[in-house]
Amino acid sequence: MTDSYKIILGEKELPEAWYNVLPDLPEPLAPPLNPATGQPVTPDDLRPIFPDSLIMQEVSQESWIEIPSAVRDIYKIWRPSPLVRARRLEKALGTPARLYYKNEGVSPPGSHKPNTAVAQAYYNKKAGINNLATETGAGQWGSALSFACKLFDMHCTVYMVKISYEQKPYRRVLMHIWDGEVYPSPTDRTNAGRAILEKNPESMGSLGIAISEAVEDAATHDDTNYALGSVLNHVLLHQTVIGLETKKQLELAEDRADIIVGCVGGGSNFGGMILPFVKDKTSGQDIEIIAIEPKSCPTLTKGLYEYDYGDTAGMTPLMLMYTLGHTFEPPGIHAGGLRYHGDAPILCNLVKHGVVSPRAYTQNPVFEAAVLFARTEGVIPAPETSHAIKGLVDEALKCKETGEEKAIVCCFSGHGHFDLSAYDDYLEGRLQDYEYPEDKIQEALKDLPKFPTGL
Ligand SMILES: Cc1ncc(COP(=O)(O)O)c(C=O)c1O
Repeated sequence: MTDSYKIILGEKELPEAWYNVLPDLPEPLAPPLNPATGQPVTPDDLRPIFPDSLIMQEVSQESWIEIPSAVRDIYKIWRPSPLVRARRLEKALGTPARLYYKNEGVSPPGSHKPNTAVAQAYYNKKAGINNLATETGAGQWGSALSFACKLFDMHCTVYMVKISYEQKPYRRVLMHIWDGEVYPSPTDRTNAGRAILEKNPESMGSLGIAISEAVEDAATHDDTNYALGSVLNHVLLHQTVIGLETKKQLELAEDRADIIVGCVGGGSNFGGMILPFVKDKTSGQDIEIIAIEPKSCPTLTKGLYEYDYGDTAGMTPLMLMYTLGHTFEPPGIHAGGLRYHGDAPILCNLVKHGVVSPRAYTQNPVFEAAVLFARTEGVIPAPETSHAIKGLVDEALKCKETGEEKAIVCCFSGHGHFDLSAYDDYLEGRLQDYEYPEDKIQEALKDLPKFPTGL
């Protein structure tokens, strides 16, 4: 086994194709439904907002989809990303486990998000689209898409959840540097935004509302398409570069993953890491795959497996997923990127079939683990990523108890350099642990649309 800290692949080893898990899922995915008719969505339903190439990727049964060379050329700015053995963390914990983290924080915007932003910008540009509209919560996705659009000489319009727009001015500046046009959502630019403002002029917004605004913007402008940063099949597909590289890097380290942990907002970094390992697990290899979410937005651990809308206004197709209800308003915990009422249908399918085990944490223990990580490994994790770090630490401590020398791999989805106010709150004891009350979840679940799951 190697004694390296960083396990580095050369540019030539950047994957040439993305891995498509759809043909290898334990059960075929249920089709998304048109919200107006309740019938399975057709390509024509999606054409007003997505290019054909991405619509085809959404339903493709090909196991491998070639990464266009223009996309690979941009990936090479930061990819392959390092897999790092967290030896100092191992020592601090006194664990016999081998801990690895795949550092997606080395991309220019600081997270895994450009893995799909670059691909989506490329396919839209190729289809003759020059403007992409999107939403962003904490600003990671908006900055990734602004970055990608800039490199393809496209324009990017970002609907940023108002509370983050006010609390995270530097992410907004980052988007402005890459020429993104950023609006605090809800806005008066769309029917969806105006309807919310009429009911509540003080609304601080939510991801669901911002999605409704961006989809409406794209659907009502011929030159504009919509880009989503998580949840959809093609997004998880593009993210599989993470897991594909990790597999090669573990081989190089002469090691094999016993446990993989990651954080889940909509499921894209987690999916990107674990999907290339799914077939190993379903064909008998002993790998534990753990998805971590916040207790304040416990989609996988407390949600229902039902058809639901992806947005608040009910404009997006209905997807079969674990959901807390599209009207669910998550509390303002700092991990803004983990505040989504649903999750990727692919990931939900894997949870439903026991391939992935979900787990939820409150934020103080999460930040405690993140600070330990920063004090040993030096790198400061994003609050979202810190959930994965807490999972890594807990699994390492279990190994300390049992004496097992397991290899535990964590997806380090992004750095926290723009989230220092959250660390300030933690260090000053101002963070509150919040478990979303059961009655609020039950209330939001009452608004679920009624469609059979067994279509
Ligand atoms: C650093 C980071 N990690 C994780 C997430 C969660 O998203 P996903 O589950 O799609 O990876 C986000 C979302 O914004 C993020 O910024």
